[in-house]
Amino acid sequence: MKKFISITSIVALLCAGGYAAAELADGYTKVDPPNAEHPLDELISGYQFRKEGTQATQDDDFENPGMLLLDQAMDQWSVAEGSEGKACSDCHSDDPLESMQGVGSTYPKFTEEGDHRAFRNIENQINHCRTERMGAKPWKYDKPDMLGMTILVRHADRGEPVNVAIDGDAESYFERGKEMYYTRYGQLDMACSHCHEDNYGNYIRADHLSQGQTNGFPTYRLKWQGVGSVHRRFKGCMKNIRAEPYKVGEEDFLSLELYTSWRGQGLPIETPAVRN
Ligand code: HEC
Ligand code: HEC
Repeated sequence: MKKFISITSIVALLCAGGYAAAELADGYTKVDPPNAEHPLDELISGYQFRKEGTQATQDDDFENPGMLLLDQAMDQWSVAEGSEGKACSDCHSDDPLESMQGVGSTYPKFTEEGDHRAFRNIENQINHCRTERMGAKPWKYDKPDMLGMTILVRHADRGEPVNVAIDGDAESYFERGKEMYYTRYGQLDMACSHCHEDNYGNYIRADHLSQGQTNGFPTYRLKWQGVGSVHRRFKGCMKNIRAEPYKVGEEDFLSLELYTSWRGQGLPIETPAVRN
């Protein structure tokens, strides 16, 4: 006879200990949800669930390994490439952090009208400028050039609240992302919500479960020994529950990115965050 294990018992098996959110360290990066329909009572950055040493590495720009990629992207900004012989700086401005202010906190979103109108995250927008405007090769997802430039765009908004639009045309992406968030996947038959909504604050093996917020991405991870995109993280979480992950940069994960961003609507951008 087949035996079924309930989700609660899987999570109970995986989780030990348990900290009430109120017992977390000082300097709490916590904000109120955007409205009463929001599923969480309080929005807490993943920063708050990491050990002091990891937090200290994030706090110190000279120690934070993600800052190296930012430096490289600052140089890349004015490098002319492609058939048009143009650099980002030719169309945007010489000061990348200034010209990208107010941009990173609003993605993913629809950009441009006409034939080019599409729902994009920062990575896709950067490649759109490269291929359509510079006549340059697209950068590969999760490679240093792309990660660095994505960090740059997000970092220009560091400290600014996540501010994504979920109405109008974005609504269908939002709904798709929400559906994914509550869908059980993989051999463990678990949904994102089982860990990041029902069990944040608890331990899963040695890991202190957070709300799975995305305000620190791209993020430097000790486990990766490098920086990774939010889609790479989604992939990792899906693999952990032994599910077949969706493809990075494509519609499913874009939808999930919009939905998870909204779950952190108002949290300050931390990019590049440091996690274990
Ligand atoms: C079995 C439990 C589990 C499930 C299910 C799960 N995750 Fe995670 N997730 C983790 C753990 C453990 C971590 C690392 C510690 C932490 O931040 O919670 C993590 C981290 C994350 C982070 C990084 C948070 C940060 O601050 O850097 C994001 C984003 C995330 N998960 C999203 C998702 C999404 C989206 C899904 C559903 C597709 C999902 N997770 C499903 C366990 C899970
Ligand atoms: C030939 C001109 C041109 C070049 C070169 C160019 N862009 Fe753009 N870019 C634009 C235009 C036009 C837009 C759409 C209008 C806007 O939002 O500023 C845009 C939009 C963007 C946006 C979205 C801004 C927003 O408000 O949502 C980002 C991010 C961006 N570009 C990044 C880059 C990066 C990084 C490079 C270099 C790798 C680059 N662009 C090169 C013309 C260019």
